[in-house]
Amino acid sequence: MLKITILSIVINKTKGVFMTRIAVIVGSLREDSINKKLAKNIESLAPEGVEFTHVDINLPLFNQDFSEDNYPVEARAAKDMVEAADGVLFVTPEYNRSLPGPLKNAIDWLSRPWGTNSFDGKPSGVIGASIGPVGTAVAQADLRHILGFLNAPQLGQPEIYVANASDLFDETGTLIDERWHKNLKAYIETFAAWVEKQK
Ligand code: FNR
Repeated sequence: MLKITILSIVINKTKGVFMTRIAVIVGSLREDSINKKLAKNIESLAPEGVEFTHVDINLPLFNQDFSEDNYPVEARAAKDMVEAADGVLFVTPEYNRSLPGPLKNAIDWLSRPWGTNSFDGKPSGVIGASIGPVGTAVAQADLRHILGFLNAPQLGQPEIYVANASDLFDETGTLIDERWHKNLKAYIETFAAWVEKQK
């Protein structure tokens, strides 16, 4: 009986029945965003069985007046996507040594209505790219602080701070730096396995 159960698990895994679903939240709205490129590249390096969904953070400004009874449909869609995922991967720029306003705004929406915080217990990872030498380290620290409050467990290591990122992608958005290619692959493999373990 045990043999049959194990065999059926193996078959189901091979069929892709057990997927690890990761919701990706990119903190930039910019068309040519290096963080959008970073997200695309890291997704392409993920192990088999990992599926990505993309959360649109282009949401109205959070206003507590209409968060409870009249929750906007686009914020509801973002909230549903995060809740359906096994884990969340944040890929964020740094604005003025913190996270960008649209990202904080989206997190505020998804933390509400009161008692329905979508990040509660949701395994989370944080990476980012900037054109400067700091590589989003300060933005990531602020984001981690917020996620701690929201009770989202976080992957501690490895860390990804992609500094001086302007020249790391070709005109098609593909990462051309071998060292970062290796680092991103190691990150997504570790993150996917860590999320899978917590399902
Ligand atoms: C920036 N940038 C920036 N970079 C950085 O390393 N630390 C910082 O504090 C800031 N601050 C900052 C503020 C504002 C308002 C802007 C618009 C930009 C530069 C930033 O790294 C660069 O614009 C990236 O290209 C932003 O990421 P995306 O949009 O390309 O993903």
